[in-house]
Amino acid sequence: MHPLPHSSADTSPTGQASAASAASGVGAHLVRRHGEAGECGFTLLGRRWHLLPEVFAPTHTDSTELFTRWLPFPAEGSFLEMGCGAGVTAVTAALEGCARVTAADINPEAVRNTHLNATRHGVADRVEAVRSDLFDALDPGARFDVVFWNSNVVHAPADFAYTRDLEYAVFDRDYAAHRRYIRDGLARLSGAGRLFLGFNSLGDTARLDAAVAEAGARITEHTALTRRAGDVPVAFRLMEITR
Ligand SMILES: C[S@@+](CC[C@H](N)C(=O)[O-])C[C@H]1O[C@@H](n2cnc3c(N)ncnc32)[C@H](O)[C@@H]1O
Repeated sequence: MHPLPHSSADTSPTGQASAASAASGVGAHLVRRHGEAGECGFTLLGRRWHLLPEVFAPTHTDSTELFTRWLPFPAEGSFLEMGCGAGVTAVTAALEGCARVTAADINPEAVRNTHLNATRHGVADRVEAVRSDLFDALDPGARFDVVFWNSNVVHAPADFAYTRDLEYAVFDRDYAAHRRYIRDGLARLSGAGRLFLGFNSLGDTARLDAAVAEAGARITEHTALTRRAGDVPVAFRLMEITR
């Protein structure tokens, strides 16, 4: 793995992230690395997958593998994967017995990629891939037993301008998507439904905690593990958000 620059490169000495520092720091490094993958095949979790250009590459980080292993997929139930990327988690959910899987992404190539992988693994009848900015394009009445997002954890300042779809896999401008995910995700749960967030130590824990507090919710760690990414240890944390 290539070494990662430290995430502090995104923050000025005053603690204020700027668009310029976001563009040159760890987030920009991640976008470059994921963009280098191009169209290819890869093996993860014992299965072969297709990756399209401009889609988050599950081979460049351990997050996809770890969160997919740790999630409690609801047998015979409904699962929503927000930000599905290549669709590894959504397709695995269907293969592991979820009756209905919805996979949403703001990146149209991720939606196409998820459909390709669902077809490859024979679960296209149970995995609906939808282009959506978070919950916006979903049926307003749809409720889910488990909702999950391996989120774009790197904070970008309010004046950050997205210039390519792949940047949505890495940067969250003003942590606005995290705030919306927590608020709207709680409202999308079935009676005993559970809301999860795949987070890691490149993210902004203070802003995440503020988003949870703003929603009047609580956040707890479900499972965590630290692995090295280049010369930097990254803590991967599957978080559960409750009212
Ligand atoms: C860290 S990547 C994870 C991809 C995939 N779930 C995986 O684990 O391999 C985050 C994903 O969230 C998507 N995303 C970012 N902002 C979004 C938004 N507002 N609505 C929907 N998807 C979004 C990105 O396009 C990207 O595919």
